[in-house]
Amino acid sequence: MTTPALALFGGQPVRTRPFPLWPVFGATEEERLLRVLRSGQWGRLDGTEVAEFEERFAAMHGCRHGIAVVNGTVALRIALLAAGIRAGDEVIVPPYTFVATATAVLEANAIPVFADIDLATFNLDPQAVAAAITPRTKAIIPVHFAGQPADMDALVALAKPRGILVLEDAAHAHGATYRGRPAGSLADAATFSFQSSKNVTAGEGGMITTNDDALAAACRSIHNCGRVPEGVWYEHHVVSGNYRLGEFQAAVLNGQLDRLEDQAQTRESNGRRLAARLAGIPGLHPQRRPTECTRHAYHLFMVRIDPALFGASRDAVLKALEAEGVPCSAGYGYSLNDQPLFRNKAFGPFVPDARERLDYGAMRCPNSDVLCREQALWLGQNLLLGSGEDVDDIATAFEKVHAHRHELA
Ligand SMILES: Cc1ncc(COP(=O)(O)O)c(C=O)c1O
Repeated sequence: MTTPALALFGGQPVRTRPFPLWPVFGATEEERLLRVLRSGQWGRLDGTEVAEFEERFAAMHGCRHGIAVVNGTVALRIALLAAGIRAGDEVIVPPYTFVATATAVLEANAIPVFADIDLATFNLDPQAVAAAITPRTKAIIPVHFAGQPADMDALVALAKPRGILVLEDAAHAHGATYRGRPAGSLADAATFSFQSSKNVTAGEGGMITTNDDALAAACRSIHNCGRVPEGVWYEHHVVSGNYRLGEFQAAVLNGQLDRLEDQAQTRESNGRRLAARLAGIPGLHPQRRPTECTRHAYHLFMVRIDPALFGASRDAVLKALEAEGVPCSAGYGYSLNDQPLFRNKAFGPFVPDARERLDYGAMRCPNSDVLCREQALWLGQNLLLGSGEDVDDIATAFEKVHAHRHELA
């Protein structure tokens, strides 16, 4: 039996219907937004939406404290400052992540040091982290990449005896669990993002979660101009700023939170279904899932293509899949250690002595490099929000492209 022609060359696409759109919203968000509008209480200090969201989000993520802020980048910076990271301290981060994981470190006046990821899980490799630890290492920021918790047992075991802070970057991991425990509660503190693409969104927004009372109090003060609960209004105790989330965004986020559990279950079951089918195609490696990952948030569905085994280049496969009606992308074009920002150490007024101490050009992260250069393929979370048949179409498109791989040379 011959497979129908590739859509790229004029054949019928596997899929012509669109996948579910993102964001998803409805009456709950509308009602909450209107209530805030009409109340005239639009700021966090007057209204109730931010406080409600902080409490609900923190509880859903296994924490006593949640501090809502303007975005996920600022959340990282505030958590580092609150934890006592000081000028020139080293913070280990993965090179395969959004730039904010590393620039938040610079903005906290500290020095990001890159440790490579594991090629199968796309998460920080604990062995690479161990090799990057120096006496100046004061924090590790594991990213739960694509929504799959990092190897927290190994990372916490490395950090704890050395007094090193572990801050989860859970920007992708709303509702994910590790050995049944929620991401966000797996270390000293965690940060989340509610930017447009994220699994819980209000266009922008961020959150710090922690079970450490002192750390929470320090974050709360920094996010609110250095104020303290017992102080008067114009009394400021630390260098900080206004990073408070607004009531309109929290109104939307409370609505989004009502939807999170259902959506997380749908992504989880569709993600497992898709991974099982793609694993059967030569040269395709869906993100390896350790048993400790008891729920994957699937902010992204990640596949690694081995071009030699698959028989076509990643970029050719991307084009062919797009034509078949499956939106996908190559993701990051640079490993962070190769970004001009780091190669040129364009740190502005920050961390002056990093210029002498560190050579990012010499810092090699081959696994991250190969993913960026030729092997990573991303599918967005909204593709997993439909039915099982919807994700079967994705697998069928991959199979069809593989069957025609020789035409893509
Ligand atoms: C892994 C990761 N960390 C941090 C951030 C920063 O969050 P924000 O865009 O809300 O500042 C993002 C994404 O946008 C991210 O993907």
